[in-house]
Amino acid sequence: MSAGLEGVVVADTVMSAVDGQLGQLWIRGYPVAELSGVVSFEEVCGLLWTGALRDEGGAIRRALGEARARAFGRIERLGDALERADGMDALRAAAAHLGEAAGPWPAPAIEVTGALAVFTAAWTRRARGLAPVPPDPDLGHAEDTLRMVHGRAVDPSWAEALDAYFACVVDHGMNASTFAARVVASTESDLVSAVVAALGALKGRLHGGAPGPVLDMLDAVGSPDAAPGWLAAELDAGRRIMGMGHRVYRVRDPRAAVLERALERLSDGGAAAGRLALARAVERSAERLLAARKPDRPLRANVEFYTATLLEGIDLPRAAFTPTFACARVVGWCAHVDEQRRLGRLIRPRARYVGPRPASVA
Ligand code: COA
Repeated sequence: MSAGLEGVVVADTVMSAVDGQLGQLWIRGYPVAELSGVVSFEEVCGLLWTGALRDEGGAIRRALGEARARAFGRIERLGDALERADGMDALRAAAAHLGEAAGPWPAPAIEVTGALAVFTAAWTRRARGLAPVPPDPDLGHAEDTLRMVHGRAVDPSWAEALDAYFACVVDHGMNASTFAARVVASTESDLVSAVVAALGALKGRLHGGAPGPVLDMLDAVGSPDAAPGWLAAELDAGRRIMGMGHRVYRVRDPRAAVLERALERLSDGGAAAGRLALARAVERSAERLLAARKPDRPLRANVEFYTATLLEGIDLPRAAFTPTFACARVVGWCAHVDEQRRLGRLIRPRARYVGPRPASVA
């Protein structure tokens, strides 16, 4: 990478702060551990969209439910968008059919957030050969998202787990997809265009695409005893351990602990508990091996490690993991679009020219 581009400040924001040395994530002044699994996803939406950690009279919950119902009514008019093999291709194509909703802020954010959940659930079902299930606007957003995927009411602990996951990953500093959304917003383009650009950025393996491979790793390891040998062989072969390491964090990603706690609360008759024990063993083993092999570069678990285990625990298919991430992160994208609009300044970085000079220039 060219020198000097790492960690460049591109905006002032009140949305979230990431401290990679201390392992802290604050969302509008609140540590993530005080939000995820503690307050509802809708209240966290209130925090990011309006600055107040509340959902006054359930207004956001109700409006999200109504937005889901409207989005469901659009499904038949999305052409072949939801037939794409890749869930992020499907979500991007479906989202592109939306127009920015009218109405005072945060109505446009609510509309697109409601729609992404409906499109994700419908794509997940179509990928299994099943018809989409209409939303129940009276339910909380996470609970209804799971209900639309599974086609039945889900265990309350599953709904709480997804709610905690959504609240945990709503925003995370100036990550690639959020930056993409802000660049688009800075040109005075519309909210949906910003969200579509962000979806494109999130699709990539280095951003939103790692939880599936974490599960492939857990499957391959099989049992806690096998972890050290399997991981050492991976590293010997020059491969990376999925779910470990982060561009910003030099300690354990604080979201890993939050999601680990959400997993502990999942009632599933033991399957998730077994998987959690395996994940913990693999994490410990990977930490030890990486510390020995890369003593100068702290490589600890990132958010994807326990995201994978959590989403699997609520029976979401691996192919739906990144679209499910988008269902939460869209809240942050919308908040950043609003913030960028208030700033009213075009983001126009410069590139350092390192190509040849014309012969006429000495
Ligand atoms: N397993 C083994 N080695 C790793 C590693 C991992 N998960 N992550 C980083 N490293 C090593 C690199 O090989 C490199 O070693 P080198 O200096 O001897 O070549 C060193 O650590 C620095 O890696 P670098 O690629 O510069 O770090 P980065 O900041 O660009 O990478 C990630 C961050 C997340 C892309 C990287 O840690 C990774 O690929 N992790 C696995 C994939 C993953 O979990 N992604 C989800 C991210 S939330």
